[in-house]
Amino acid sequence: MRKTMKFIKETIEAIVYADQAELPESVQRLVETAIQAAKNAYSPYSRFKVGAAIELENGEVVTGNNQENAAYPSGLCAERTAAFYAAAHYPGQPFKRIVITSINPAQPSEKPVTPCGACRQALIEYEQKFNVPVEIWLAAEKGEIIHLKSIRDLLPFSFGATYLK
Ligand code: THU
Repeated sequence: MRKTMKFIKETIEAIVYADQAELPESVQRLVETAIQAAKNAYSPYSRFKVGAAIELENGEVVTGNNQENAAYPSGLCAERTAAFYAAAHYPGQPFKRIVITSINPAQPSEKPVTPCGACRQALIEYEQKFNVPVEIWLAAEKGEIIHLKSIRDLLPFSFGATYLK
């Protein structure tokens, strides 16, 4: 039979919490940890501070923040700093959830930070490595928090290990 064109519809789901007080307590603590991590960001060029906190399957929490560099592309985002630290120190531990948060001293915002494309790609690697969905919680210092159940929801049609087999 002759093949014909088809349409694919990918849907994603997000839950938007009104503020931090609405979050489960364990997530509230993780948001607070991510905010603390953001405060230690090294971002003298953009002055935009990002913090990430990853809770591993064994309950361990690993944090990271953005590290900028005078040679701009040599810097690294907070999410990748945290993910690579977690993968380097706990190579057998799936990521359970990640909180990403930001502080913009120039213009305090209540808009949750969303990860850049390169970070989405880096994070989905670990979701696929362990075949366990990684919950994402996106927050600013205050205001709404966006919750997605999987990195896949941030990166449909992703490239991954299956192409390299
Ligand atoms: N940044 C992150 O750390 N994570 C993101 O998801 C978006 C951007 C950092 C990179 C750079 O240091 C600064 O924010 C401005 O782009």
